[in-house]
Amino acid sequence: MARNAGFGSFGHLAVRFLGALDPRGPKPEEERWAQGWLLPGEVELWTRMTGPDRRHAAGVAREVAARLGPGDTPRPIMAAALLHDVGKVLSGLGTFSRVGVTLAALGLGRARLTVASDIAPGSTRWRRRVSDYLCHDRLGADLLEAAGSHPDTVAWAGEHHLPTQSWSLDRRFADALKAADGD
Ligand SMILES: [Fe+2]
Ligand SMILES: [Fe+2]
Repeated sequence: MARNAGFGSFGHLAVRFLGALDPRGPKPEEERWAQGWLLPGEVELWTRMTGPDRRHAAGVAREVAARLGPGDTPRPIMAAALLHDVGKVLSGLGTFSRVGVTLAALGLGRARLTVASDIAPGSTRWRRRVSDYLCHDRLGADLLEAAGSHPDTVAWAGEHHLPTQSWSLDRRFADALKAADGD
């Protein structure tokens, strides 16, 4: 299956796209469970995420807990699972635009597309949205730091699309988070 550093496989993205067409968030019980892991400032960020992004994040957190063992997953790691994509709240891109940008990133490579989006024709606002979406990892880390998150939560938001050799997070936790995310 085709893969591109940082943005997963086409098959995985197709599944994510179909899921993103349903705007609903997690079920109320799942929503309560997810928020129960978060600090007050993190809950505020969580509620700004789209329904499909919250469903994805809750699924990642469930799988991380299953992989590491119930009761054996530190709260900051659960928060990392729930908020790793929180930077996407800044881009304001809709589902179809996200798919277009993600496919372009798969074809061109994220670094080249980020540069291209800075010089491409089109409104400044549109180019900013694309650029913010592509940089959601770094932007998310900044949001979490400002919200008072634990350093491990901040680190994973910033590192989750980087190659393994660039990770600073404890490898046991990072491996579980990456495997559960599939992005
Ligand atoms: Fe991401
Ligand atoms: Fe993700």
